[in-house]
Amino acid sequence: MNIAVNAPSVPETVYLKDYTPPAFAVDSIALDIRVFDDHTIVSSKLEVQRQHAGDLILLGRDLELKSIRVNGQPLSEEQYQLDSEQLLVKNAPDHAVIEIEVIIHPESNTQLEGLYLAGKDLFVTQNEPEGFRKITFYPDRPDVLSVFTTRVEADKKFPVLLANGNLLETGEAGEGRHYALWQDPTKKPSYLFACVIGDLEVLRDRYTTIEGREVALEIYAEAKDIEKCQIAMQALKDSMKWDEEHYGRPYDLDNYMIVATSAFNMGAMENKGLNIFNTSCVLADPEVTTDAAIMRVQSVIAHEYFHNWTGNRITCRDWFQLCLKEGLTVFRDQSFSEDLQSAAVQRIDDVAVLKSHQFPEDAGPLSHPARPDHFVEINNFYTATVYEKGAEISRMMATLLGKEKFRQGTDEYFRRHDGQAVTVEDWVAALSAGSGVDLSAFLTWYNQPGTPVLDVQADYDVAAQTYTLQLKQSVKPHAKYPDLKAVPIPVALALFDAETGEQLTLECEDLFQNQVKDGVYLFEQDSASITFKHVSRKPVLSLLRNFSAPVNLNFAYSDEELAFLLQHESNGFNQWQATQTLLERVLLQDHPVDIYLHAIQKTVVELVNTDPLLASRLLDVPSESYLASRIDVDYRPVAIEEKREAVLNAVAKHLGDFWKNSYQTLDPDAQSDFSQAMGVRSLRNIALSMLARVGDTQVFDLADAQYHNTLNMTERLGALRVLVWNDAPQAQQVLQDFYDRFKDEALAIDQWFMIQAAHPHADQALIEGLTSHPDYDLGTPNRIRAVTGGLSSRPVNLWGEVGVNHFVHLTKLMDGKNPIVGSRMIQALSRWYTLAEPQRTEVKARLLDLQAQVTSKNVVETINRMLSV
Ligand code: TRP
Ligand code: ZN
Repeated sequence: MNIAVNAPSVPETVYLKDYTPPAFAVDSIALDIRVFDDHTIVSSKLEVQRQHAGDLILLGRDLELKSIRVNGQPLSEEQYQLDSEQLLVKNAPDHAVIEIEVIIHPESNTQLEGLYLAGKDLFVTQNEPEGFRKITFYPDRPDVLSVFTTRVEADKKFPVLLANGNLLETGEAGEGRHYALWQDPTKKPSYLFACVIGDLEVLRDRYTTIEGREVALEIYAEAKDIEKCQIAMQALKDSMKWDEEHYGRPYDLDNYMIVATSAFNMGAMENKGLNIFNTSCVLADPEVTTDAAIMRVQSVIAHEYFHNWTGNRITCRDWFQLCLKEGLTVFRDQSFSEDLQSAAVQRIDDVAVLKSHQFPEDAGPLSHPARPDHFVEINNFYTATVYEKGAEISRMMATLLGKEKFRQGTDEYFRRHDGQAVTVEDWVAALSAGSGVDLSAFLTWYNQPGTPVLDVQADYDVAAQTYTLQLKQSVKPHAKYPDLKAVPIPVALALFDAETGEQLTLECEDLFQNQVKDGVYLFEQDSASITFKHVSRKPVLSLLRNFSAPVNLNFAYSDEELAFLLQHESNGFNQWQATQTLLERVLLQDHPVDIYLHAIQKTVVELVNTDPLLASRLLDVPSESYLASRIDVDYRPVAIEEKREAVLNAVAKHLGDFWKNSYQTLDPDAQSDFSQAMGVRSLRNIALSMLARVGDTQVFDLADAQYHNTLNMTERLGALRVLVWNDAPQAQQVLQDFYDRFKDEALAIDQWFMIQAAHPHADQALIEGLTSHPDYDLGTPNRIRAVTGGLSSRPVNLWGEVGVNHFVHLTKLMDGKNPIVGSRMIQALSRWYTLAEPQRTEVKARLLDLQAQVTSKNVVETINRMLSV
């Protein structure tokens, strides 16, 4: 028949307020997917049933329609309407069986969405959010749930044929072909459909649920990578147990499969019983994987597993509700990781991501509520705000309720909504009903953009022995959201005796007694005050412990008080927060660095022996990108770099022998557990780079020896970095050695690209050398990100000719080839408007020029928003 040529009937911008339930439910869908070298035939049979008045709308994109029958009768062209976005069946009966055949071309699909060729011997799917419509015509929206039966047929050169659910049957299909028939008993939306056709090895294990269900666990990867799936397998079992223990949620199918591919746009995807993962989030082996990457594997495995309940069993009514599943699931995976390693360090790492990605996003032209109310392209809303701020909102409610009540709340959520497609309102209502605490005010957090500012003033009254806090909150006005309201802010706090360093028991004026509980004060108004009694001398206040709310805090700490907290706070996260606040003042407000140097020395020298992991984080100096996010006008990347370098040099010098001593005495192999070993490796790498700063004559030899004498990737890369970034005599030799050693390990080669792209003086020739290297590949997002990631870690280069050229050129290419990735790339330049002149005007001109050339919805929407300041 025909490929649609008419203009799309779908409106440009979609609004939350326009939501209407689907006219038809789909009771079941039988899919038959037959893969050939140069095309794939997809036949489907849908049983549909009318729910509401309205047309039967089947969404579809880039599909060649071969035939359509309704209740056995072929439709003539007058009986349906087809355009480039949908197929509308006119006068559809209330009950109908729809049979459709289409032809698609996964072998030439470069967008990595729908069904696509992901390597020589592998086809996979990616259907969230709207990829299923590129496989067949279907009501491809998350509130249509159905039972999927899937037959997959392919040449036997693809021995592995997978789909969601239980394997019912396999058999011969003639001409060297075979098939597998799968059925998923749980109703699910189409975005959770997956199938895999390929030549892969499998790692198997088992898990017995708390209910006694035996689950077969399978991780599929290329044969050479199978041994690197052990850590992920253990993380999967740990996650299954954790969700039983902490949320009472056992697994519900007899198998759980994970498939690894390097051709993947994001981290991983929670398809029911058949997760598909970026290799970077599943393969882990200390010889080729850094400690940080191993931690990420564990957290993404947990994240996708936890989606089985928060996302799959209970899904989203529409894509505006994305943070319902993502925010809650990120909060759950963060909590899992807190239990796995040091809770304080996990929180530090999560807040660092929030502050360096979400805060700037929310302060610029791409700002949107955690639950957006309109979009052009939903793929553009898989953002730090939806994920990380969404997680913070769940966390705030959990903090306020405490463990027991939060569990009662989530129990009620699962009891009410299992099997449904729901909204953020449903979530907050269930949590309130289950816990008995009205949380409805938290909806404001989901509905409005911007990071609130929390202003606190303290007053100590010697005569009355009281300590009073005045709190105020405000948000920067937002053109599109004129009436921003106050939000409920849980303020976790502690008071310390300034002389002994001891934590005080909080005694509060009667009026607030109910509100101060376990050190958490719920601040809900525009302003409020709170008074502590029987405070015998002026205390040191510690605010937002564990970062109890995602706000920008203004409190006139003295540098001495921050130094005090750095040494005496018992909450490791707040020790770190004190270092960051102090350093931010040094870097952006010209405070002297001495108080910091003195305090960090006092604290870290001891801590390296008792908690090396925390010690390594306390040495963090805010990144140039984070600092940039704090500057809204006249941003000069070179000036910031110079200041930051000066501070690092001062730290290097001030701690003197400490670096050499630590480097020589700390032994990763002597540590009791992985976390501590990780801390020691991190500290030794910091020490190495500090020794390079003070011009230690032996440092390159030490680095060269570390590079060659280890089997651990964190150590090898730490050494490589110091040699390459300092243009050491050995630099080219070790780079070549690294390449030769790891040329078959794509994820290690990503690191090799990244380190070079992150060279402090990366120039056009260097970047061109990387992008014209035979291993540079625009079909592998990981490889693209290795270079962009390296470049953007150095704002001076990012905003210079070399960076802007790279990003503009790349976005143009990806606009056609892979718009999801293209749209993400260009966001690296979203803070262009903060630059000092003439850079601001120059970069703006490049963006305007780009704007005139791009065509994909994804990139067009992003660049339009970026330029709307
Ligand atoms: N739902 C996935 C997760 O967060 C992420 C996801 C959304 C995704 N869209 C995607 C992954 C497109 C890959 C490609 O767990
Ligand atoms: Zn997710």
